[in-house]
Amino acid sequence: MSRIKLHPSGHEIECQQGDTVLAAVERSGYALPNNCRAGACGECKVKVLQGEFDQGIVLDMALSQEERAQGFGLMCMAKPLSDELVIEWGTDDAKPKLFPPRENMLHIVTDKIRRTPRITEFRFRPLGNPVRYWPGQYVMLGDATAGAPQRSYSIAGAPRPDGEILLHVTRDATGATSRWLHDQVQVGDSVKLSGAYGTFIGDPSVETPVLCMAAGSGLAPILSLTEAALRRGFKQPVKLLFSACTAEDIYNQGLMTFLQAKNRRFKFIPTLTREKRDGMLSGRIPDLLPTQFTDLSGYTVFIAGTPEFVASCKQAAKLLGAKDEMIHTEGYFQQQQPETPPANRLATASAGR
Ligand SMILES: Cc1cc2nc3c(=O)[nH]c(=O)nc-3n(C[C@H](O)[C@H](O)[C@H](O)COP(=O)(O)OP(=O)(O)OC[C@H]3O[C@@H](n4cnc5c(N)ncnc54)[C@H](O)[C@@H]3O)c2cc1C
Ligand code: FES
Repeated sequence: MSRIKLHPSGHEIECQQGDTVLAAVERSGYALPNNCRAGACGECKVKVLQGEFDQGIVLDMALSQEERAQGFGLMCMAKPLSDELVIEWGTDDAKPKLFPPRENMLHIVTDKIRRTPRITEFRFRPLGNPVRYWPGQYVMLGDATAGAPQRSYSIAGAPRPDGEILLHVTRDATGATSRWLHDQVQVGDSVKLSGAYGTFIGDPSVETPVLCMAAGSGLAPILSLTEAALRRGFKQPVKLLFSACTAEDIYNQGLMTFLQAKNRRFKFIPTLTREKRDGMLSGRIPDLLPTQFTDLSGYTVFIAGTPEFVASCKQAAKLLGAKDEMIHTEGYFQQQQPETPPANRLATASAGR
């Protein structure tokens, strides 16, 4: 077992043999930003001030050679080698606030509903205690024996008393786990979920207008955040721009109509990128944004979807004045491991750096 010390707060965490730093930090209830959990996105990058760790196999674009040389590491893949690892972490972040995730919680598939030609909604009921999560977080699931590695899926709704978990899964024609879910997993099957993970969560104390942007199954975490905010009587306007290729890719329209009818401050605005329909917007969200808003400087912005979608929406929002610290993003990074390990897999930080 190793000890992880958070600098400058001085908080200490135990890291069991074989655990990554991220897993240990989360188990202790700390909110270290993360996304792909596979060394591909760079979200969990922190500076290691002291101690040695095995960085594992990560992508160069997520952790450059210069960053390695400066002592940075990706905590989702890093495993301590020394008795103590000191990691640099802002005091604001180093506050316990997440529910410690649990692994392999048995659930039964209670429903499998085709929402669009590529997106299917799965509903899972827990056999044990419900997954505790903040709206916007994700769970991981897969089945190694079926050739489906663990992948992340955002929970598509606010927490429910019966613990039901909803996921919206896009089928990737050549993907391992999404195909397993779409083609093999059936109603009545049991699956194991782990979680909840992630820091794409809303701050309940925010009192600004909110703009949400989602594409495809990126709607899932946005829906979770929106539902939770509206349920607790959020008073500010919430606009949800949703990007779909064609009209048949727009889903959950009934729920959107209900939410709009119940909350006059909520507005659902779909746009089609590959067809035109009377009375509907068409075009990509980043191109449409200036026609919908003149100034986003006072807005809290949430964006979810593919990494490319997230990056282009973020840039467009910033051009309209949105502030970095008020933009929250969830890019659906792919999680397969790189096949060849980089040369310097082992990272060492010298004392006091
Ligand atoms: C935080 C987070 C939340 C997410 N939430 C959702 C969600 O709510 N809904 C959802 O549908 N998805 C979500 N995703 C994406 C999801 O986790 C998976 O990445 C997605 O389902 C694809 O997984 P897969 O196993 O089916 O495909 P993979 O097997 O990972 O393959 C994906 C693509 O990469 C290609 N590929 C496979 N192996 C390699 C390789 N070695 N090198 C290069 N290319 C390769 C495949 O041909 C395929 O096109 C989320 C991702 C993250 C990080
Ligand atoms: S690189 Fe660690 S969470 Fe993506």
